[in-house]
Amino acid sequence: MAATEGKFRVLGNDWVNQEYKHMIVDAGPLALNVEPGQFFNLLCPQTDTDKPFFRRPMSTYYADEGTNTVEFLYKVTGAGTRGLATLKAGDGLQFLGPLGNGFTVKPDYQHIMVVARGVGLATLAPLAERAAKMNIHVTALLSARNQQSLMSQQRFLNIGATVIEVIDTDDSSSVANVEALIRQVHGKRPVDAIYTCGSARIARMLQALIAEIDIAGEVALEQHMACGIGMCYCCVRPIKVGKALAMKSKRVCYDGPVFHIKEVVL
Ligand SMILES: Cc1cc2nc3c(=O)[nH]c(=O)nc-3n(C[C@H](O)[C@H](O)[C@H](O)COP(=O)(O)OP(=O)(O)OC[C@H]3O[C@@H](n4cnc5c(N)ncnc54)[C@H](O)[C@@H]3O)c2cc1C
Ligand code: FES
Repeated sequence: MAATEGKFRVLGNDWVNQEYKHMIVDAGPLALNVEPGQFFNLLCPQTDTDKPFFRRPMSTYYADEGTNTVEFLYKVTGAGTRGLATLKAGDGLQFLGPLGNGFTVKPDYQHIMVVARGVGLATLAPLAERAAKMNIHVTALLSARNQQSLMSQQRFLNIGATVIEVIDTDDSSSVANVEALIRQVHGKRPVDAIYTCGSARIARMLQALIAEIDIAGEVALEQHMACGIGMCYCCVRPIKVGKALAMKSKRVCYDGPVFHIKEVVL
């Protein structure tokens, strides 16, 4: 579906924990064809203290064709997200989307893994649901700073996913342990593809592991953005393209945000 610009009605915007809010927006027909991994560029409200100028990109956490709603799960970190956090049910929110290219899930896959750190799970939860609808088993490895920061486990369990939780406070989220867990999962039930978002350290480890065990892999990159539609070139990153993996400058908003993991420079 072509990206649409408009002002939409906020239906809810509640705290999930101390850092994250969950916003539900009545997006009308826009909700119909959002692909997992695509994002919206939100015009964040200005407040007395915060004057965000550029829009802020947010992944689609959920897009419901039945209710025409689009949902975002976002961490309140700076001027833009603090502005978003002020919105109440009934307020308007202007945004543009859906934007970018989403994840690829092949119908012959039998088992995929999603490896999400922090808010990366907002990006990966819709992908897990898409895979489950295609009768593909999902193992979700969720990483966070502590137990309270882990979110959406039930959403993965609801689709029959195997959920593995790792946290910083007991060091289970160390890159070495995450790699060991993935090797264990793959050893027991071969994984066809791994998808990741939210941690450059995990993505670097996966880049090597995926090359070694020779499976597919994709990463959703987070990058500062302005226009979100490929015009300003503020989100350019070096990407290795083609069989020869020749280095080219690519726009994360337009050519991504999802890339084959072997193509990215991390
Ligand atoms: C395609 C895409 C999808 C995203 N999806 C989500 C999501 O679902 N939920 C969510 O909470 N966040 C998501 N982000 C990150 C989100 O856009 C930033 O957290 C947000 O723009 C911060 O704006 P701010 O004004 O509140 O903070 P700022 O004051 O602009 O920045 C606060 C901190 O966040 C860092 N930051 C700012 N923008 C980005 C960015 N685009 N990528 C990485 N780090 C950034 C800054 O370096 C700084 O350390 C996504 C980013 C991209 C590119
Ligand atoms: S944000 Fe403008 S080109 Fe990507």
